[in-house]
Amino acid sequence: MEIKELTALQISERIEYVKSKLGMSDEDLAAVTKEKGLSDAQACEMIENVIGTYSLPYSIAPGFLINGREYIVPMVTEEPYVVSSTINGALLAAKNGGFICSNTGSVMYGQIQLTGIRNPNTAGLKLLERKAEIIEAANKVDPVLVSFGGGCFDVEVRPVETCDGPMLILHLVINTADAMGAQAINAMAEAVSPLAESITGGRAIVRVLSNRAFRRLVRARVTVKKEDLGGEECVDKVVSAYAFADADPYRAVTNNKGVMNGIIPVVVATGNDTRAVESGVHSYACRSGQYKPITIWEKDGKGNLCGMIEIPMAIGTVGGTTRFHPGAQFSLKLMSVNSAARLAEIIAATGLAANLGVLYSLVTAGLHGDFEAARK
Ligand code: MEV
Repeated sequence: MEIKELTALQISERIEYVKSKLGMSDEDLAAVTKEKGLSDAQACEMIENVIGTYSLPYSIAPGFLINGREYIVPMVTEEPYVVSSTINGALLAAKNGGFICSNTGSVMYGQIQLTGIRNPNTAGLKLLERKAEIIEAANKVDPVLVSFGGGCFDVEVRPVETCDGPMLILHLVINTADAMGAQAINAMAEAVSPLAESITGGRAIVRVLSNRAFRRLVRARVTVKKEDLGGEECVDKVVSAYAFADADPYRAVTNNKGVMNGIIPVVVATGNDTRAVESGVHSYACRSGQYKPITIWEKDGKGNLCGMIEIPMAIGTVGGTTRFHPGAQFSLKLMSVNSAARLAEIIAATGLAANLGVLYSLVTAGLHGDFEAARK
Protein backbone atom coordinates (compact mmCIF):
# COMPACT_ATOMS: atom_id res chain seq x y z
CA MET A 1 0.00 0.00 0.00
CA GLU A 2 1.14 3.54 -0.80
CA ILE A 3 1.80 5.43 2.42
CA LYS A 4 -0.25 8.36 1.17
CA GLU A 5 -3.28 6.06 0.90
CA LEU A 6 -3.22 5.51 4.67
CA THR A 7 -4.79 8.93 5.22
CA ALA A 8 -7.92 7.80 3.33
CA LEU A 9 -8.42 4.72 5.56
CA GLN A 10 -10.56 4.20 8.66
CA ILE A 11 -8.77 3.90 12.01
CA SER A 12 -9.50 0.14 12.09
CA GLU A 13 -7.89 -0.26 8.66
CA ARG A 14 -4.78 1.65 9.76
CA ILE A 15 -4.57 -0.66 12.77
CA GLU A 16 -4.69 -3.63 10.39
CA TYR A 17 -1.87 -1.99 8.37
CA VAL A 18 0.35 -1.76 11.48
CA LYS A 19 -0.50 -5.33 12.48
CA SER A 20 0.30 -6.79 9.09
CA LYS A 21 3.37 -4.61 8.49
CA LEU A 22 4.98 -5.34 11.87
CA GLY A 23 3.41 -8.67 12.82
CA MET A 24 1.68 -7.18 15.86
CA SER A 25 -1.33 -8.55 17.74
CA ASP A 26 -4.60 -6.97 18.92
CA GLU A 27 -3.14 -7.19 22.41
CA ASP A 28 -0.14 -5.04 21.34
CA LEU A 29 -2.35 -2.43 19.67
CA ALA A 30 -4.72 -2.29 22.65
CA ALA A 31 -2.16 -0.14 24.47
CA VAL A 32 -3.09 2.83 22.27
CA THR A 33 -6.67 2.00 21.32
CA LYS A 34 -9.67 2.66 23.52
CA GLU A 35 -9.59 -0.82 25.06
CA LYS A 36 -6.55 -0.44 27.29
CA GLY A 37 -4.25 2.46 27.97
CA LEU A 38 -3.10 4.06 31.19
CA SER A 39 -4.78 2.62 34.30
CA ASP A 40 -5.56 4.75 37.36
CA ALA A 41 -2.89 2.85 39.29
CA GLN A 42 -0.28 3.60 36.62
CA ALA A 43 -1.34 7.25 36.45
CA CYS A 44 -0.97 7.54 40.25
CA GLU A 45 2.52 6.11 40.00
CA MET A 46 3.44 8.90 37.58
CA ILE A 47 2.13 12.06 39.28
CA GLU A 48 0.34 13.22 42.41
CA ASN A 49 -3.35 14.07 42.98
CA VAL A 50 -4.60 12.17 39.95
CA ILE A 51 -8.33 12.26 39.17
CA GLY A 52 -8.19 10.67 35.73
CA THR A 53 -6.27 10.59 32.47
CA TYR A 54 -6.32 12.87 29.40
CA SER A 55 -6.33 11.55 25.85
CA LEU A 56 -4.61 12.86 22.74
CA PRO A 57 -4.63 11.41 19.23
CA TYR A 58 -2.01 8.72 18.62
CA SER A 59 -0.87 8.82 15.00
CA ILE A 60 1.63 6.96 12.87
CA ALA A 61 4.10 8.46 10.41
CA PRO A 62 5.27 5.61 8.18
CA GLY A 63 7.83 5.90 5.43
CA PHE A 64 10.84 6.98 7.47
CA LEU A 65 14.17 5.68 6.20
CA ILE A 66 16.87 6.25 8.80
CA ASN A 67 20.41 4.90 8.43
CA GLY A 68 19.06 2.46 5.86
CA ARG A 69 16.25 1.10 8.05
CA GLU A 70 12.52 1.70 7.62
CA TYR A 71 10.53 3.03 10.56
CA ILE A 72 6.94 3.77 11.41
CA VAL A 73 7.23 6.71 13.81
CA PRO A 74 4.57 7.30 16.49
CA MET A 75 3.31 10.87 16.91
CA VAL A 76 1.07 12.11 19.73
CA THR A 77 -0.05 15.67 19.10
CA GLU A 78 -3.11 17.92 19.02
CA GLU A 79 -2.09 20.04 15.99
CA PRO A 80 -3.62 19.36 12.56
CA TYR A 81 -1.34 19.09 9.52
CA VAL A 82 1.75 18.28 11.61
CA VAL A 83 1.59 14.54 10.92
CA SER A 84 0.84 14.88 7.20
CA SER A 85 3.53 17.48 6.56
CA THR A 86 6.04 15.40 8.57
CA ILE A 87 5.15 12.38 6.42
CA ASN A 88 5.66 14.54 3.29
CA GLY A 89 9.14 15.45 4.55
CA ALA A 90 9.91 11.82 5.42
CA LEU A 91 8.82 10.60 1.97
CA LEU A 92 10.92 13.22 0.19
CA ALA A 93 13.87 12.01 2.27
CA ALA A 94 13.15 8.31 1.71
CA LYS A 95 13.11 8.81 -2.08
CA ASN A 96 16.64 10.15 -1.72
CA GLY A 97 18.26 7.55 0.52
CA GLY A 98 16.66 8.75 3.76
CA PHE A 99 18.14 10.38 6.81
CA ILE A 100 21.70 9.74 7.92
CA CYS A 101 21.95 10.07 11.69
CA SER A 102 24.70 10.01 14.30
CA ASN A 103 25.04 10.85 17.98
CA THR A 104 27.58 11.64 20.68
CA GLY A 105 26.28 9.19 23.29
CA SER A 106 24.41 9.92 26.52
CA VAL A 107 26.71 12.20 28.52
CA MET A 108 25.04 14.57 31.00
CA TYR A 109 26.18 16.89 33.78
CA GLY A 110 25.20 16.86 37.44
CA GLN A 111 25.86 20.26 39.03
CA ILE A 112 26.84 21.03 42.61
CA GLN A 113 26.80 24.73 43.53
CA LEU A 114 29.46 25.47 46.15
CA THR A 115 29.26 28.84 47.89
CA GLY A 116 31.23 30.72 50.53
CA ILE A 117 34.62 29.90 48.99
CA ARG A 118 37.09 32.80 48.95
CA ASN A 119 39.54 31.23 46.53
CA PRO A 120 37.40 29.17 44.10
CA ASN A 121 40.29 28.50 41.68
CA THR A 122 42.38 26.78 44.36
CA ALA A 123 39.33 24.94 45.67
CA GLY A 124 38.58 23.79 42.11
CA LEU A 125 42.04 22.22 41.81
CA LYS A 126 41.56 20.45 45.14
CA LEU A 127 38.39 18.86 43.78
CA LEU A 128 40.21 17.74 40.62
CA GLU A 129 43.00 16.19 42.74
CA ARG A 130 40.33 14.03 44.47
CA LYS A 131 38.59 13.09 41.21
CA ALA A 132 38.80 9.30 41.72
CA GLU A 133 37.22 9.58 45.18
CA ILE A 134 34.42 11.82 43.87
CA ILE A 135 33.67 9.44 41.00
CA GLU A 136 33.59 6.50 43.40
CA ALA A 137 31.15 8.31 45.73
CA ALA A 138 28.89 9.16 42.80
CA ASN A 139 28.88 5.65 41.33
CA LYS A 140 28.03 4.02 44.68
CA VAL A 141 24.58 5.60 44.27
CA ASP A 142 23.62 3.70 41.14
CA PRO A 143 25.39 0.35 40.72
CA VAL A 144 22.73 -0.71 38.20
CA LEU A 145 23.63 2.17 35.86
CA VAL A 146 27.32 1.29 36.30
CA SER A 147 26.59 -2.38 35.50
CA PHE A 148 25.04 -1.23 32.20
CA GLY A 149 28.22 0.62 31.27
CA GLY A 150 27.07 4.01 32.53
CA GLY A 151 27.91 6.12 35.57
CA CYS A 152 30.10 9.05 36.52
CA PHE A 153 33.44 9.00 34.67
CA ASP A 154 34.81 12.51 35.00
CA VAL A 155 34.72 15.67 37.05
CA GLU A 156 34.95 19.29 35.91
CA VAL A 157 35.10 22.52 37.90
CA ARG A 158 33.85 25.94 36.91
CA PRO A 159 34.55 28.99 39.10
CA VAL A 160 31.82 31.54 38.30
CA GLU A 161 31.32 35.18 39.27
CA THR A 162 27.69 35.79 40.24
CA CYS A 163 25.61 38.71 41.54
CA ASP A 164 25.87 36.95 44.93
CA GLY A 165 29.65 36.63 44.90
CA PRO A 166 32.09 33.98 43.61
CA MET A 167 30.94 30.38 43.43
CA LEU A 168 32.51 27.12 42.44
CA ILE A 169 30.41 24.76 40.35
CA LEU A 170 31.35 21.10 40.38
CA HIS A 171 30.24 19.11 37.36
CA LEU A 172 29.85 15.36 37.62
CA VAL A 173 30.18 14.04 34.07
CA ILE A 174 27.85 11.08 33.79
CA ASN A 175 27.08 8.53 31.10
CA THR A 176 23.38 7.79 31.55
CA ALA A 177 23.39 4.98 28.93
CA ASP A 178 19.79 4.21 27.87
CA ALA A 179 18.16 6.18 30.69
CA MET A 180 17.21 9.84 30.46
CA GLY A 181 19.07 9.88 33.76
CA ALA A 182 17.55 12.74 35.78
CA GLN A 183 16.93 10.64 38.90
CA ALA A 184 20.38 9.05 38.86
CA ILE A 185 22.14 12.35 38.24
CA ASN A 186 20.27 14.18 41.00
CA ALA A 187 20.94 11.34 43.43
CA MET A 188 24.66 11.38 42.55
CA ALA A 189 24.91 15.16 42.95
CA GLU A 190 23.26 14.96 46.37
CA ALA A 191 25.44 12.05 47.48
CA VAL A 192 28.70 13.74 46.43
CA SER A 193 27.97 17.16 47.92
CA PRO A 194 29.15 16.42 51.53
CA LEU A 195 32.50 15.25 50.12
CA ALA A 196 32.70 18.34 47.88
CA GLU A 197 31.97 20.53 50.90
CA SER A 198 34.66 18.86 52.99
CA ILE A 199 37.28 19.17 50.22
CA THR A 200 36.55 22.84 49.48
CA GLY A 201 35.25 24.19 52.78
CA GLY A 202 32.30 25.54 50.81
CA ARG A 203 28.57 25.09 51.26
CA ALA A 204 26.61 23.07 48.71
CA ILE A 205 23.26 24.62 47.83
CA VAL A 206 21.76 23.47 44.51
CA ARG A 207 22.53 19.87 43.54
CA VAL A 208 20.79 18.85 40.33
CA LEU A 209 21.29 17.82 36.71
CA SER A 210 21.84 20.39 33.97
CA ASN A 211 19.37 20.25 31.08
CA ARG A 212 21.98 21.95 28.91
CA ALA A 213 22.78 18.53 27.45
CA PHE A 214 25.50 19.71 25.08
CA ARG A 215 27.38 16.40 25.33
CA ARG A 216 24.28 14.43 24.39
CA LEU A 217 23.91 15.60 20.82
CA VAL A 218 22.13 13.91 17.97
CA ARG A 219 22.45 14.77 14.29
CA ALA A 220 20.47 14.02 11.15
CA ARG A 221 21.09 15.03 7.57
CA VAL A 222 19.37 14.54 4.24
CA THR A 223 19.93 15.43 0.58
CA VAL A 224 16.88 15.86 -1.64
CA LYS A 225 17.26 15.95 -5.42
CA LYS A 226 16.05 19.20 -7.00
CA GLU A 227 13.77 17.23 -9.36
CA ASP A 228 11.85 15.88 -6.37
CA LEU A 229 11.20 19.45 -5.28
CA GLY A 230 9.99 20.59 -8.70
CA GLY A 231 13.33 22.14 -9.69
CA GLU A 232 16.19 24.29 -8.49
CA GLU A 233 13.97 27.30 -7.88
CA CYS A 234 12.36 25.50 -4.96
CA VAL A 235 15.80 24.58 -3.58
CA ASP A 236 16.80 28.25 -3.75
CA LYS A 237 13.62 29.29 -1.95
CA VAL A 238 14.18 26.80 0.88
CA VAL A 239 17.78 28.03 1.23
CA SER A 240 16.47 31.61 1.23
CA ALA A 241 13.89 30.70 3.91
CA TYR A 242 16.75 29.28 5.99
CA ALA A 243 18.80 32.47 5.48
CA PHE A 244 15.81 34.50 6.71
CA ALA A 245 15.59 32.35 9.87
CA ASP A 246 19.35 32.50 10.39
CA ALA A 247 19.33 36.30 10.28
CA ASP A 248 16.06 37.02 12.09
CA PRO A 249 15.26 35.53 15.51
CA TYR A 250 11.53 36.22 14.96
CA ARG A 251 11.59 33.74 12.09
CA ALA A 252 14.11 31.41 13.79
CA VAL A 253 11.72 30.83 16.70
CA THR A 254 8.89 29.94 14.30
CA ASN A 255 11.18 27.70 12.26
CA ASN A 256 12.20 25.90 15.44
CA LYS A 257 8.58 25.63 16.55
CA GLY A 258 7.97 23.77 13.28
CA VAL A 259 10.91 21.46 14.00
CA MET A 260 9.57 20.81 17.51
CA ASN A 261 6.23 19.95 15.86
CA GLY A 262 8.00 16.79 14.68
CA ILE A 263 10.12 16.20 17.76
CA ILE A 264 7.72 16.60 20.67
CA PRO A 265 5.02 14.18 19.42
CA VAL A 266 7.62 11.37 19.40
CA VAL A 267 8.94 12.44 22.81
CA VAL A 268 5.37 12.27 24.18
CA ALA A 269 4.61 8.96 22.44
CA THR A 270 7.65 7.36 24.10
CA GLY A 271 6.87 8.69 27.60
CA ASN A 272 9.82 11.07 27.66
CA ASP A 273 10.17 14.49 29.28
CA THR A 274 9.10 17.16 26.77
CA ARG A 275 10.36 20.06 28.93
CA ALA A 276 13.85 18.59 29.22
CA VAL A 277 14.01 18.28 25.43
CA GLU A 278 12.53 21.75 24.80
CA SER A 279 14.84 23.56 27.23
CA GLY A 280 17.91 21.73 25.92
CA VAL A 281 17.09 22.39 22.27
CA HIS A 282 16.33 26.09 22.78
CA SER A 283 19.50 26.63 24.80
CA TYR A 284 21.42 25.03 21.91
CA ALA A 285 19.63 27.31 19.44
CA CYS A 286 21.06 30.37 21.20
CA ARG A 287 24.50 29.04 22.09
CA SER A 288 26.14 31.71 19.87
CA GLY A 289 24.42 34.51 21.78
CA GLN A 290 21.69 34.94 19.15
CA TYR A 291 18.71 32.63 18.82
CA LYS A 292 19.28 30.65 15.59
CA PRO A 293 17.44 27.98 13.60
CA ILE A 294 18.32 24.45 14.74
CA THR A 295 18.17 23.21 11.15
CA ILE A 296 20.43 24.30 8.30
CA TRP A 297 19.54 24.16 4.58
CA GLU A 298 22.07 24.60 1.78
CA LYS A 299 22.48 23.74 -1.90
CA ASP A 300 25.11 21.30 -3.13
CA GLY A 301 27.14 21.52 -6.36
CA LYS A 302 24.40 19.69 -8.31
CA GLY A 303 21.69 22.10 -7.21
CA ASN A 304 20.20 19.61 -4.73
CA LEU A 305 18.93 20.51 -1.27
CA CYS A 306 20.96 19.47 1.78
CA GLY A 307 19.41 19.75 5.21
CA MET A 308 20.72 19.01 8.68
CA ILE A 309 19.92 19.26 12.35
CA GLU A 310 22.11 18.97 15.46
CA ILE A 311 20.43 19.18 18.87
CA PRO A 312 20.76 17.95 22.44
CA MET A 313 18.39 15.04 23.08
CA ALA A 314 18.01 13.91 26.69
CA ILE A 315 15.60 11.02 26.35
CA GLY A 316 15.60 7.40 27.49
CA THR A 317 14.24 3.98 26.62
CA VAL A 318 14.44 2.60 30.17
CA GLY A 319 13.26 3.97 33.50
CA GLY A 320 10.81 6.76 34.22
CA THR A 321 7.41 6.82 32.52
CA THR A 322 8.71 4.83 29.56
CA ARG A 323 9.05 1.84 31.89
CA PHE A 324 5.36 1.35 32.64
CA HIS A 325 3.22 3.52 30.35
CA PRO A 326 1.57 1.03 27.97
CA GLY A 327 1.49 3.58 25.14
CA ALA A 328 5.19 4.36 25.56
CA GLN A 329 6.03 0.66 25.57
CA PHE A 330 3.96 0.22 22.42
CA SER A 331 5.77 3.12 20.71
CA LEU A 332 9.17 1.53 21.34
CA LYS A 333 7.83 -1.72 19.93
CA LEU A 334 6.40 0.07 16.89
CA MET A 335 9.87 1.38 16.08
CA SER A 336 11.70 -1.75 17.33
CA VAL A 337 14.00 0.52 19.22
CA ASN A 338 15.80 -0.47 22.40
CA SER A 339 18.47 2.15 22.89
CA ALA A 340 18.31 5.83 23.79
CA ALA A 341 20.80 6.66 21.04
CA ARG A 342 18.63 5.06 18.31
CA LEU A 343 15.50 6.74 19.65
CA ALA A 344 17.29 10.11 19.76
CA GLU A 345 18.27 9.66 16.10
CA ILE A 346 14.68 8.87 15.09
CA ILE A 347 13.49 11.96 16.97
CA ALA A 348 16.06 14.19 15.25
CA ALA A 349 15.09 12.78 11.84
CA THR A 350 11.42 13.43 12.63
CA GLY A 351 12.22 17.05 13.49
CA LEU A 352 14.11 17.49 10.24
CA ALA A 353 11.26 15.81 8.29
CA ALA A 354 8.71 18.17 9.89
CA ASN A 355 10.86 21.16 8.94
CA LEU A 356 11.34 19.91 5.37
CA GLY A 357 7.61 19.22 4.92
CA VAL A 358 6.64 22.66 6.20
CA LEU A 359 9.35 24.58 4.32
CA TYR A 360 8.27 22.89 1.10
CA SER A 361 4.69 24.03 1.77
CA LEU A 362 5.75 27.54 2.76
CA VAL A 363 7.78 28.16 -0.39
CA THR A 364 5.27 26.54 -2.77
CA ALA A 365 1.48 26.41 -2.24
CA GLY A 366 1.69 28.13 1.15
CA LEU A 367 0.75 26.66 4.49
CA HIS A 368 -2.91 27.59 4.39
CA GLY A 369 -3.40 26.16 0.90
CA ASP A 370 -1.76 22.85 1.82
CA PHE A 371 -3.61 22.68 5.13
CA GLU A 372 -6.97 23.08 3.39
CA ALA A 373 -6.00 20.41 0.84
CA ALA A 374 -4.97 17.99 3.61
CA ARG A 375 -8.35 18.39 5.36
CA LYS A 376 -10.30 17.38 2.21
C1 MEV B 1 3.09 25.76 12.78
O1 MEV B 1 2.79 24.96 13.90
C2 MEV B 1 4.59 25.75 12.54
C3 MEV B 1 5.05 26.55 11.34
O2 MEV B 1 4.70 27.92 11.50
C4 MEV B 1 6.56 26.39 11.24
C5 MEV B 1 7.23 27.28 10.22
O3 MEV B 1 6.70 28.35 9.89
O4 MEV B 1 8.33 26.88 9.81
C6 MEV B 1 4.38 26.09 10.10
